[in-house]
Amino acid sequence: MTEPLLVGEHLTRRYPRRPRPALDDVSVTVHAGASLGIVGESGAGKTTLLRLLLGVDRPSAGEVRFAGTPLDRVPERDFRQQVQVVFQDPRSSLNPRMPVASIIAEPLRSLRIGDSRSDRADRVAELLTAVGLHPDDGQRYPHEFSGGQRQRIAIARALAPAPRVLLADEPVSALDVSVRRQIVELLQELVERLGLTLVLVSHDLAIVSQLCQQVTVMRDGRVVETGPTSTVLATPTDDYTRALLAAIPRLPADLEEVPPQTTEA
Ligand SMILES: Nc1ncnc2c1ncn2[C@@H]1O[C@H](COP(=O)(O)OP(=O)(O)OP(=O)(O)O)[C@@H](O)[C@H]1O
Ligand SMILES: [Mg+2]
Repeated sequence: MTEPLLVGEHLTRRYPRRPRPALDDVSVTVHAGASLGIVGESGAGKTTLLRLLLGVDRPSAGEVRFAGTPLDRVPERDFRQQVQVVFQDPRSSLNPRMPVASIIAEPLRSLRIGDSRSDRADRVAELLTAVGLHPDDGQRYPHEFSGGQRQRIAIARALAPAPRVLLADEPVSALDVSVRRQIVELLQELVERLGLTLVLVSHDLAIVSQLCQQVTVMRDGRVVETGPTSTVLATPTDDYTRALLAAIPRLPADLEEVPPQTTEA
């Protein structure tokens, strides 16, 4: 087993005027190069947990550690370079007034990666190709792309600083069913090729089983079950996990039966 890279220990997050914590004593460990899926019904605390791991929100109690160091002692720039995120809705996460090349180069500029404008242009072209777009697409604006293509742009931006960790919050649930599979396959290919550590929030257990070795099942701000995805999905020990599995019409095995899509994402 590789080193624990991103660790949340006894994380609790309370919000004002809320009697129950959104997150209640949750611990997760993500090893370098491993992949963790976080599943659970709406309001379970998945996004709250991801925001704490991303350092954009702070726990009321508990601690997040990156490569062994508490997050508040990890230099901000290092952390931003190494941990990147893809959100659910690429429409709202991409600035409509910026050409795609500038959107993708933004983390390079803000983190001062690349010595020159032409270094960054080369990197952007490489990233566009890596996500299945054309280097010339950099001149176009987000509204000129389909939902699936916009999510490809968001993935290219996240990968721009060559992070070790990719966090993703429901990265395909805003997309048409026909393009979901293509984006999941792109993520899978990139995670494997780049050796990325992945934390994926998804309510789709089929996607979690395709992308994640480990899964944590959450309910009401707590972890109800955690373990290897194949074990948890095949032999759920918790009633809630069983109910979650039963509620999802597409079970993991069915994913293979979906005919290949030819639609361009
Ligand atoms: N800023 C906030 N202020 C108050 N309560 C909040 C805030 N953000 C989240 N919550 C509450 O915390 C709980 C967990 O929310 P969270 O967004 O983490 O759930 P989730 O599992 O991501 O759900 P979904 O699947 O719908 O995205 C919910 O009860 C939610 O109402
Ligand atoms: Mg959420």
